[in-house]
Amino acid sequence: MPKITVLPHTELCPQGAVIEAEAGTTICDALLKHDIDIDNACGGVCACTTCHVVVREGFKTLNEIDEDEDDMLDRAWGLTPQSRLSCQAILQATDVTVEIPKYSINLAKEGHH
Ligand code: FES
Repeated sequence: MPKITVLPHTELCPQGAVIEAEAGTTICDALLKHDIDIDNACGGVCACTTCHVVVREGFKTLNEIDEDEDDMLDRAWGLTPQSRLSCQAILQATDVTVEIPKYSINLAKEGHH
């Protein structure tokens, strides 16, 4: 099974982690399954940017970004050329390294504060 190396994130995963997930799983699902509680405000339907991750290694091995994801990504905090919405990024057979950005933009949540 491919491995996902998760770089340390102060709140979600302070020590970093290496997890395994089956090919065909989205990165978001894999993280959640291993108690790395990445935001996924829209429930994984490509309608927010809270599940944004930066794929530091293995970016090219993932499925291609479609137009909807590309449009949403434009609004993500801290966008990089290796950014993906993790709920749309499907693991293939290759290991990847991901970084969860320090901030995410969750308009729904901000509205409640
Ligand atoms: Fe909303 Fe991924 S969870 S786009």
